[in-house]
Amino acid sequence: MISIERGSHIKAGTRTDHVRAGTRTEVLTEVYLQDVSKTYGEGRTSVTAVRSASLQIPRGQFLVILGPSGSGKTTLLNLIGGIEPPSSGTLAVAGLDITALGTQQRTAFRRDYVGFVFQFFNLIPTLTALENVQLIAELLDCNGEALSEKSLKSVGLGERMNHFPRALSGGEQQRVAIARALVKQPSLLLADEPTGSLDLDTGRQILALLHQLNRRDNRTVILVTHNSAIANMADRVIRMRSGEIIEDTEVEKPLAPEEVTW
Ligand SMILES: Nc1ncnc2c1ncn2[C@@H]1O[C@H](COP(=O)(O)OP(=O)(O)OP(=O)(O)O)[C@@H](O)[C@H]1O
Ligand SMILES: [Mg+2]
Repeated sequence: MISIERGSHIKAGTRTDHVRAGTRTEVLTEVYLQDVSKTYGEGRTSVTAVRSASLQIPRGQFLVILGPSGSGKTTLLNLIGGIEPPSSGTLAVAGLDITALGTQQRTAFRRDYVGFVFQFFNLIPTLTALENVQLIAELLDCNGEALSEKSLKSVGLGERMNHFPRALSGGEQQRVAIARALVKQPSLLLADEPTGSLDLDTGRQILALLHQLNRRDNRTVILVTHNSAIANMADRVIRMRSGEIIEDTEVEKPLAPEEVTW
């Protein structure tokens, strides 16, 4: 198994000044993109899903990506998470130059560094909540049971660990999926429409959880959504259209998740 040592390969010049609440502090750049493009296919049928994207995301930012269907949101997230390599441009995450990694190293990066949360929770129906989380812990070769229990407790599911997914509500299933993403203790959490199949109240609880993981644990959260109301709780909002980043705005006073309504 190929592994990438944490903290190694730190790319020079990836620290930036970041202004937050009037104070200028030096923080690590979690995500660095310069002129990143992704094209699928060749010739007349090719589609450029992401076009010349440049973006720096400091560690600990809560970033929301908005845009219509087909605008390249998922593609951008998948590039950042190492699911796919870019066609061109420079991409570094947590100081690692992703464009310089081979397929196996990219897999190791994705497995060890990035937590993914999706619209559909992708739990294995024949495994309990705890077993679903443990499966990932074992893949990561870490102390499975203790870490999985801790992870489930941290999302408020300490009492329901031995339930099967069918005995859990949609919101609880999404919590299991988040607990599963947390076992690797990622500094970067990528969420693609995490509230897309939840009702308003449950969706808000999941947003509150992601917000807590961001604020309490200083994890960087990148959340893709169609729902522009969610952007009100972000530190920063990016809008995409036809593969391009057309707007990049810092939110002066982000709302608390419980104040967000739609
Ligand atoms: N694997 C692929 N092969 C070919 N084309 C793709 C692939 N993935 C995405 N695309 C195309 O790239 C464009 C951007 O897709 P993407 O999934 O990133 O959009 P999105 O903004 O996430 O949309 P949605 O809101 O519907 O999820 C679309 O035109 C899509 O058809
Ligand atoms: Mg998408």
